[in-house]
Amino acid sequence: MKNQTVGNIVSQLPKASELFKQYKIDFCCGGDKPLGEVIRQQNINEEELLEKLDVLSKEKDSINTPDFINMSSSELIDYIVNTHHVFVRNILPELNGLIVKILQVHGINHQELFKVHQHFSLLKLELEQHLIKEEEILFPLIKEYDKNQSNKIFEVMEETEDEHETAGNVLKELRKITNDYQVPKDGCTTYFITYKKLQELESDLFQHIHLENNILFKRLSKN
Ligand SMILES: [Fe+2]
Ligand SMILES: [Fe+2]
Repeated sequence: MKNQTVGNIVSQLPKASELFKQYKIDFCCGGDKPLGEVIRQQNINEEELLEKLDVLSKEKDSINTPDFINMSSSELIDYIVNTHHVFVRNILPELNGLIVKILQVHGINHQELFKVHQHFSLLKLELEQHLIKEEEILFPLIKEYDKNQSNKIFEVMEETEDEHETAGNVLKELRKITNDYQVPKDGCTTYFITYKKLQELESDLFQHIHLENNILFKRLSKN
């Protein structure tokens, strides 16, 4: 297990994503690193983590998750668009309204909310363009790849991976600014809902980027 990449582990064992999140292991943009290397770099209790992964692998069969590995690329793309792109498109405007609202009410006492607003706005802008780029340019190229092997696909795929990394960095920054999404004592219900939804967006994006980087894009190789 230690020699496998973290992206690969989540591909085989989807439940590991939750565990990796708890340990702050980046399995989507940093999915190419072997688990052993991550354990060393982040000073993680190896025995404890491997034991938890072992428990999860024994539970594997009882968990009902789609079999992403065996989906065709077309099926996987449709799944990503219908599940994750729809989710992002719904939650972004909702979160935008919520963040502006808590900024108005609590910004004076919690000035980090100005930074939250700024980072979120950047993420929103980038994601809106990113989804369109995938749906209109990259995904059609992947669906046609068997018939038309254009090199453009690799150019766009690289750009897309860079955009994933940028989004991943903004998410890390948001987590830092909000002190792991801790609602302050004087925070209202809207504050709480906003931070909860930001975490839902984070989890969904981790899974979304994982499916793209570690499963879908990995199938296309240059040689
Ligand atoms: Fe996507
Ligand atoms: Fe993407």
